Formats: sequence, C-alpha cells, structure tokens
Amino acid sequence: MMAKKFTVTPWRVSGSIDYNRLIKEFGTERITNELMWRIKKHTKELHPYLTRKIFFSHRDLNWILDEYEKGNKFFLYTGRGPSEKVHLGHITVWKFTKWLQDKFDVELWFQMTDDEKFLFKPNLTIEETNKLAYDNALDVIALGFDPKKTFIFSNIDYAKTLYREALKVAKKLTFSTVKATFGFKEDNNVGQIFFTSMQAVPCFLPSVKANKNIPCLIPLAIDQDAHFRIARDIMPKLGYYKPAIIHQRFLPALEGSGKMSASEGTTIFTTDSPEEVEKKIRKYAFSGGRETIKEHREKGGNPDIDVSYQWLTFFEEDDKKLEKIYNDYRSGSLLTGELKQILIDKLNKFLKEHQRKREKAKKILNKFIVKN
Ligand code: TRP
Repeated sequence: MMAKKFTVTPWRVSGSIDYNRLIKEFGTERITNELMWRIKKHTKELHPYLTRKIFFSHRDLNWILDEYEKGNKFFLYTGRGPSEKVHLGHITVWKFTKWLQDKFDVELWFQMTDDEKFLFKPNLTIEETNKLAYDNALDVIALGFDPKKTFIFSNIDYAKTLYREALKVAKKLTFSTVKATFGFKEDNNVGQIFFTSMQAVPCFLPSVKANKNIPCLIPLAIDQDAHFRIARDIMPKLGYYKPAIIHQRFLPALEGSGKMSASEGTTIFTTDSPEEVEKKIRKYAFSGGRETIKEHREKGGNPDIDVSYQWLTFFEEDDKKLEKIYNDYRSGSLLTGELKQILIDKLNKFLKEHQRKREKAKKILNKFIVKN
C-alpha cells in the first residue's frame, strides 16, 4: 500500500498523521512500558496521557531519570507562539507539563515567541503578538503552575538576556542546516533563518544563570521537534547538555485530520462560551457513526475515527468511563448525538473552571513574568 501523505513541521501540520512513521523519520524513541514503570517509581501514579500513549515518544528520557536519581534535578521548558487566543490543543500539553512540575517538583521556563510570530505571520504586528503573549500567559497560569517555580517570558521583552545567548547558538548554525531542517527557500526572510537560535536558548539559560549544567526536559507537540534536533546538535558544542524531549500527539482537528489549529478549520478557544462549544462540536466534530440510527443500532459506530471520542481520550481522565463510552459506541447503544453531548458537557465543565481561574490569573500575572 502506498504511504499516505502528511506534513509535520513547526509551521504546518496536515493530512492523516502516521505517528509510527514520525518516530522513524525523526529518529525518536517510543515510550515503552518499561520506561513508564520507571517514571511511575517517582510519580507514584501515571498520567492518563502516558498510559493512553498521547505522550508517545521521547529523546533521552532515560538519561533525565538517571540524573534525577543521582539527585541532579532537571527543569522543564516549553512555550507558545502567541499568534491567536489559546485553544484546547495547547492546553493539553501544558496540563501534562503541570503534572510533571508537581510530581518532580521542578522549575518551568515558558517561552512566548512573539518574535517568531511576528516574523512568520504576514499580517501580525509586533504590538499585537507581544500583547497576545501576555494574554496567552493567563491560560498557562490558570492551569495552576507554581509561581515560585515558573518563569514566563516574551522573547521581545526578555531580548537583552536571550539575545546574548542566542548569538552563541547562531554562530554554530549554518544556513544550510536551517534550510535542510525547515525546508526554507531563498525567499524566506532572514529573521526566520535566525529564529531557531532564540528557541534554543531556554534549553541552557538556567544553566547559564546557575553557572552549572542542569538537565532540561521539554514537553511538546511533535511538530516542534525540528527546532530541538538542531539545538541538540549545538548544545554540546557550547558545553551544555542536550535537552531531553517528550512528544505529544496532536489533539485532532474537529473535522478529522491533521491537528486543531486556528489557521485551518474550526478551533475551540479557551474563552469560548458554552453555546459556542456546543455549536462547534455539533456542527463540525467528525463522526464515526452510521448513516441512520437504525443502521447505527444494528452495526455500531467506529470510535477509532470518531473525533468526539478521540477528544474524550484527552479530556475524560477516568479510564472506566472512557472504556464504557468506547464499548457503548461500538455496540451501537450510544448514538453520535449522545456521544457529542458527553463531550460538550465535559468541555464546558472544564472551561467554566478554566475561565474563572483565567480571570484570577490577571491579578497574579506579574509573579510569573520575567523580563529585562
Ligand atoms: N514555537 C512554538 C510555537 O509556535 C513555541 C515554543 C517556543 C515552544 N519554545 C518552545 C513549544 C518549546 C514547545 C517547546 O508554538
């Protein structure tokens, strides 16, 4: 059979993604049961995103645990390109990051790449993306990160600190590597060519500040991996550790293929009203149900392609409930409309709490922000 076409780069994700092929093509490692047990030794329980293989791949996670077991704690690093309001796809990576912070009691460095979004989005101004950095930070804070251990920064407003370090990365990075990694052409602007140097900095900034090497673990959606293939090559040349990475699959687009994104298809934002959520799910969530109710009752639906079910694997934490939904949908006793209702209720319940905490975050934003 001919392999299906799909694209996964930091700036474009489309098609029906074969995650096994990504592991091969990117040269990452699968998260095995052994590795999960090793994590569980420290965390006591496993996050459903691990057992459900939503975080499915990694680089050097065993090494991070070796160091941790020797008493050499890591820090977490992740980020957000603030080109829009935050949507539910982003939240899932950060929820897991918060779990890691709690379980391992470690710092989080959170990068807002307003510089990147200015360079890559033709119509976005610096003022707009910089403002969005602080708007988006509210969603991060709403998830409950520890203000004493969490540092959020806009690249533009923390540039004096970051630029100094980015230069060291840029000096070791050639145009041909950037071209080959990101598929850039002669007509890419020069800011885009430089940008990955900025995204590499938080991998070693805490080490610079502490004046000793600290391991770094980056939770991310797998489209960002390319940046860190480059960073991992360069870090040892600067005398730092390679960052370890743990990769998440995408929250699928409502329409059924690729990832959910604000630039393509329908997006559910964290600030959507219950009515908006309901409307979007009812109208757009791709269904694995049958043509007619009669046929559905007789033959059952297909949860494996049903987007509402796939979303519940991200938002319903109770394994038993999830399994029952799966079986009921398969057998035909649960109809598509009913399945959608379960998802709508789940999301609206989450969003109600989230929106409340997001409001509160406005008062404590300053506790999290670092800038020059
Ligand atoms: N470039 C990322 C984006 O567009 C944001 C980002 C910066 C990031 N640093 C990161 C994401 C580290 C994951 C990990 O969304």
